[in-house]
Amino acid sequence: MRDRLVILALFEVLFTYKVRLNDAVVFKFTNFACESYNTSWFVFHNCRLKAVSRDKVLLNLNGTILHPSNDIHIHGQVFKRFNGYKPWLFKEDVDACRYLRRPYIPVAAIVYGLFKDFSNINHTCPYVGPQIVKDFYLRHELLRLPFPTGDYLLSMRWHFDKKLQFDTNISFTFVEDFVKKK
Ligand SMILES: *[C@@H]1O[C@H](CO)[C@@H](O)[C@H](O)[C@H]1NC(C)=O
Ligand SMILES: *[C@@H]1O[C@H](CO)[C@@H](O)[C@H](O)[C@H]1NC(C)=O
Ligand SMILES: *[C@@H]1O[C@H](CO)[C@@H](O)[C@H](O)[C@H]1NC(C)=O
Ligand SMILES: *[C@@H]1O[C@H](CO)[C@@H](O)[C@H](O)[C@H]1NC(C)=O
Repeated sequence: MRDRLVILALFEVLFTYKVRLNDAVVFKFTNFACESYNTSWFVFHNCRLKAVSRDKVLLNLNGTILHPSNDIHIHGQVFKRFNGYKPWLFKEDVDACRYLRRPYIPVAAIVYGLFKDFSNINHTCPYVGPQIVKDFYLRHELLRLPFPTGDYLLSMRWHFDKKLQFDTNISFTFVEDFVKKK
């Protein structure tokens, strides 16, 4: 079942490849779910979306890491909505401390490239204290992958010392603008 979904997703990507990457598209957040499972290590103060126009939604996050963390793994997975969210193409365990020293996962590089300018979460380990993402919005011109139109969920489950501490689950929509397409 999962293999078939991956093949389906690959076909969708190939099919969409002819869409020029600079075509106008809508690429915006639709939901943001955060939850800490260990508030003696990570607390969320604020985790929300704010729509500033029809096509632009800002993501804000304010959290605190209460003890330094040197062992951070992000279990990341992308889901696409068909009939409910189904696993779609990408599933990675990112060793964040290793990644920040030397990027080694292309998909992580895309996600990181999208948000690093909006955040203080952009240095090497250890991580401690305020973790801020401010007025982050999606810019499709930084997305070096063609995406099929649809609704997606990027689930990121953050593990410190190999134990799940918190989730940041981001939903977004990607819509090709057929009107402006050449
Ligand atoms: C985030 O997504 C994962 C994968 O679907 C799910 O298991 C988890 O419960 C979600 N967490 C939150 C806070 O929604
Ligand atoms: C929760 O956080 C505390 C404080 O940092 C840590 O000592 C403990 O191992 C964590 N528990 C789990 C289950 O991750
Ligand atoms: C983050 O939340 C803390 C606790 O409420 C607050 O003191 C701090 O000013 C907030 N930081 C930002 C950048 O909003
Ligand atoms: C990290 O983000 C800050 C803004 O919060 C920015 O000034 C700085 O250049 C960024 N650093 C890197 C390495 O991207």
